[in-house]
Amino acid sequence: MAISDISHRNRYLAEGNVYLPHIAVIENIVDETPGIRTFHFNFKDEKLREEFTFESGQFGEYSVFGTGEAPFCISSSPTRRDHLEFAVQRAGRVTNALHRLGVGAEIGFRGPFGNSFPLNYLRGKNLVFVAGGIGMAPLRSLIWNVIDSRDKYGDISIIYGARSPDDLCFKYDVEAWEKDTTVKMTITVDREAEGWTGNVGFVPSVTEKVAPSAKDAAAIVCGPPVMIRFTFPVLEKLGFAPEQIITTLEKRMKCGIGKCGRCNIGDVYVCRDGPVFSFAQIKAFNSDEY
Ligand code: FES
Repeated sequence: MAISDISHRNRYLAEGNVYLPHIAVIENIVDETPGIRTFHFNFKDEKLREEFTFESGQFGEYSVFGTGEAPFCISSSPTRRDHLEFAVQRAGRVTNALHRLGVGAEIGFRGPFGNSFPLNYLRGKNLVFVAGGIGMAPLRSLIWNVIDSRDKYGDISIIYGARSPDDLCFKYDVEAWEKDTTVKMTITVDREAEGWTGNVGFVPSVTEKVAPSAKDAAAIVCGPPVMIRFTFPVLEKLGFAPEQIITTLEKRMKCGIGKCGRCNIGDVYVCRDGPVFSFAQIKAFNSDEY
């Protein structure tokens, strides 16, 4: 498939046009951290609202009319159909424009795009989720997905870290997972902070300390590239084979539609071939640029 063909993979076409977004309305906005917001939205078209499905790990192209379009994962779970969610870190023109929008504003949505977390492979396994900062966004879609079919999976461990307590996103999820007796939750921040009595340390070293068992397990990792790069060897040291380690490299995407050529790692384009990959696949890229 040519790189530019990716936008044709959308199964929900607006008026049969791959470039035309569906109109969606923002229904709620959650301030996660000073620079990160989660937007809840629904499609204006009632039929689409009912029919739309996606898989955890997939992403959408969100547009602010008159400003531009950017890719973000769908951070809600496909098992919870009341509305859809995506989280945005203020960083550039489109993300700043999104942050200026209020409840009731209309945005454009195209998608879902990309592959997804391999539920068939994960079923029956003990799951270890390792996330840093806004990297929890795609993982929380999968975590709620798994929790909503709890009997199909083994133990669930979640290791989540951020620079400081204020930089932890989805605190309401973390609270719910802490209360869930079937989930082992570990939270950490990079350095000591006033009032913080929890773990202090980077996600990879806390993962090493928590030492989740690799037996019948899979680890699903997402966070800043540096966190991902340091977490993989820790998991390998703990006995996880590269096939047992899964990540999403969505942070590398810029246009998300195969146009800009900025997401490539060797011959692989994250937006075209991913964004979900196993560490075994990443090793085969023959590039340490991930
Ligand atoms: S080509 Fe632009 S993000 Fe992949």
